[in-house]
Amino acid sequence: MNSIQSLHIEAGIRALRAFVFEEGVLRILDQRALPGRTTWLSCSSVEEVAQAIECLAVRGAPAIGGAAALGMLLALDAEHIDDVKSRCAAADERLRKTRPTAVNLFVALDRVRAAWLPPAADAASLRARVVAAARGYVEDDRSACDALAAHGRDALNALIDDDSALMTICHTGALATCGGGTALHVLGALHAARPATHAVALETRPLLQGARLTAWECQQRGIPVTLITDSMAAFYMQQHKVGVAVVGADRIARNGDTANKVGTFALALACAHHGVPLFVAAPTTTIDVQCDSGAHIVIEQRHADEVRAFAGSASATPSTPVWNPSFDVTPAHLIRGYITERGVLSSSMLSKL
Ligand code: MRU
Repeated sequence: MNSIQSLHIEAGIRALRAFVFEEGVLRILDQRALPGRTTWLSCSSVEEVAQAIECLAVRGAPAIGGAAALGMLLALDAEHIDDVKSRCAAADERLRKTRPTAVNLFVALDRVRAAWLPPAADAASLRARVVAAARGYVEDDRSACDALAAHGRDALNALIDDDSALMTICHTGALATCGGGTALHVLGALHAARPATHAVALETRPLLQGARLTAWECQQRGIPVTLITDSMAAFYMQQHKVGVAVVGADRIARNGDTANKVGTFALALACAHHGVPLFVAAPTTTIDVQCDSGAHIVIEQRHADEVRAFAGSASATPSTPVWNPSFDVTPAHLIRGYITERGVLSSSMLSKL
């Protein structure tokens, strides 16, 4: 069961796509409308892609990288090579300003920049290089998702039994990546190997990615799921058997400190109290080897209205002061291991990558 080929991926998951590039347009599934409505945004300019990333129509670290990489293809429409280059430079600058925390955005844009920055014979060969680089990022992320799911399945299978749940936060499935997902893909692979596997999804305030996306995607994949609010996690662990917690990541520092959706740190503390191992599942593109520790990770602050409202209705007065970090940083000592496409790594192995 330890080969990647043996990973059973349901056909339905292949149909869950965060975006698709066709006929010169990047079509982005608007995740803000899920699970109620399936709406696609048609982006024909870099600015439209940037705004789709900023408003979280597309979200999840690897998916942001994929959308940005493919968004660069919308900058290629010029005849002269100098014009293609200057359009690429402007697009790169705009997309880098969309969201600061998920490092995959910068990894993807670096990869595409390595295609448009060096000299080229003509505009056509430059364009071909950029297309190959953008598509390469997307394809590599898709393969990394399957590989890390297989590694995670084999590692976690040894830690759980049939009556223990797997807890997760935020959304880490197909729509958060270019492929099958990270933590949720591990859950899917485990469920395929051990049908009794069931998930506990934290709803993930303030934007409810856990309720709207994870609980929904689990149902799409046939994974039994229980939805709880974030504040119920510790009590759930006291009252029920939780075998393991698996979360995604937006940026992993060299020492293993991990930025992920706000609430992950509290979940990790509850896990430590109850002796539940917590794993981070992420492609190696989420590891920022330039970043020494979590103290150096820039945490995105989002609009106060996200906290002053619940599911679109005001839950506080408009003048209520709010603190709204989109992510928190879980210290490495609370993380048992990092499930990547290269295997399950310890924090001391990250700096060797
Ligand atoms: O603000 P979001 O929805 O982009 O935050 C997403 C998360 O924090 C995910 O857990 C993380 O990106 C891992 S996605 C595979």
